[in-house]
Amino acid sequence: MTDPRAQVVGEGYDAIGERFDEWRRQIVGDPRERWLEELTSRLFEGARVLELGCGSGLAETQLLAKRFRVTGVDVSATQIRRARVNLPEARFVHADFTSLELPSASFEAVASFYSFNHVPRELLPTIFERIHGWLRPAGFFLVSLGAEDLPEWTGDFLGAPMFFSGYPPERNRELLEEAGFERLLDEVVTFQEPEREATFHWVLAQR
Ligand SMILES: C[S@@+](CC[C@H](N)C(=O)[O-])C[C@H]1O[C@@H](n2cnc3c(N)ncnc32)[C@H](O)[C@@H]1O
Repeated sequence: MTDPRAQVVGEGYDAIGERFDEWRRQIVGDPRERWLEELTSRLFEGARVLELGCGSGLAETQLLAKRFRVTGVDVSATQIRRARVNLPEARFVHADFTSLELPSASFEAVASFYSFNHVPRELLPTIFERIHGWLRPAGFFLVSLGAEDLPEWTGDFLGAPMFFSGYPPERNRELLEEAGFERLLDEVVTFQEPEREATFHWVLAQR
């Protein structure tokens, strides 16, 4: 049974997918390329990369797929359909990544851009542990996490109901360490979305 909060997110992105891609192009100061480079410079050609919350398979998914074997996961059926068209060479899975079962030690890296702020925060310990298990020893986890103390919030995002949740950076750090990760890089970054400033906690961690 799908978590109703993940269902809100999936149906939300089903409705706003194309609008989201356009909205994202208007963001100023997004550090995602720099973080992607921090990850990819540490990986060998052909490495297996799992992207959680891959959306429609644009931006970093395309860059990753040029050099690595990418599996993208998203809870929005519409975004996954678009991703398969945008990037036929990658593998895409329609699923809630918080309840996904994958073989252990099967990826050199797990990456997630702006998806974890949609995950109910009490699920973070379990999903961090699972990701740790999906990674090969010394594998990398790149993630932009929410940076606010937000137990849960549901409201309008770009015209559709959407769910958000998150912990402040200190708690994110504790949970990553408890799951067994070593944090290699860690930065709280604020930038300008079309309507407001947004702050995310970026971490590059290693198993
Ligand atoms: C803000 S969008 C980011 C999309 C893309 N990574 C980007 O940076 O443009 C968040 C994406 O994460 C997906 N997502 C959020 N929670 C998810 C979950 N539990 N399982 C799978 N996908 C999820 C959403 O459906 C959405 O496509």
